[in-house]
Amino acid sequence: MCDRVKSRQRPPKANGHRFHGDPDRFQLLAEFIGERFGNSVEYVADVAGGQGMLARELRKRLNYRVEVVDPRGWTLKGVESRAVPYLAKDASYYDLVVGLHPDQALREVVHSALRTATVIVPCCNFWRDDQRLGRDALAESIVGWFEQNHVRYERVEFPFKGPQNLGFVTAPPEAH
Ligand SMILES: C[S@@+](CC[C@H](N)C(=O)[O-])C[C@H]1O[C@@H](n2cnc3c(N)ncnc32)[C@H](O)[C@@H]1O
Repeated sequence: MCDRVKSRQRPPKANGHRFHGDPDRFQLLAEFIGERFGNSVEYVADVAGGQGMLARELRKRLNYRVEVVDPRGWTLKGVESRAVPYLAKDASYYDLVVGLHPDQALREVVHSALRTATVIVPCCNFWRDDQRLGRDALAESIVGWFEQNHVRYERVEFPFKGPQNLGFVTAPPEAH
């Protein structure tokens, strides 16, 4: 859930830690990434990764080298991290950039699709300041940007509970 929408209820626990949204999303997204990318990636950015649950799953299950890039700097013990705002210009450093509910990093994660493979699961409209966009309109607006920029993309309904489970798997534009 976005930081903009604070729930009054206590979030459910995953592995003893409290999170908003479906607590299974970290494990399920890690499994999806493993099935989709397998050994073709090694170095992964978990952008806006918060405490680093996804990073931990990706390392544990798939042995990827993963770092969280999130200015909060709240990561769990043993998770590599850089406590800075993420910038798309750093994308080529990674084989895969993942933005799971990336809030204010959404634009930089989408722009990373020009340089490297991405998995993007938006949760709120941190994409356009000039328009109110619900989930589906937000996805359409991002698709428009991919198409303008020749990013190859697939819309995916990720295997965890919605509504914030729609997103994209992308590959950079083909070189001519
Ligand atoms: C809704 S939380 C999502 C955390 C985690 N991915 C999850 O699914 O639970 C959004 C995160 O975005 C981080 N964030 C905000 N601005 C950022 C930026 N410019 N670069 C990287 N992370 C950012 C926040 O610190 C916060 O941890």
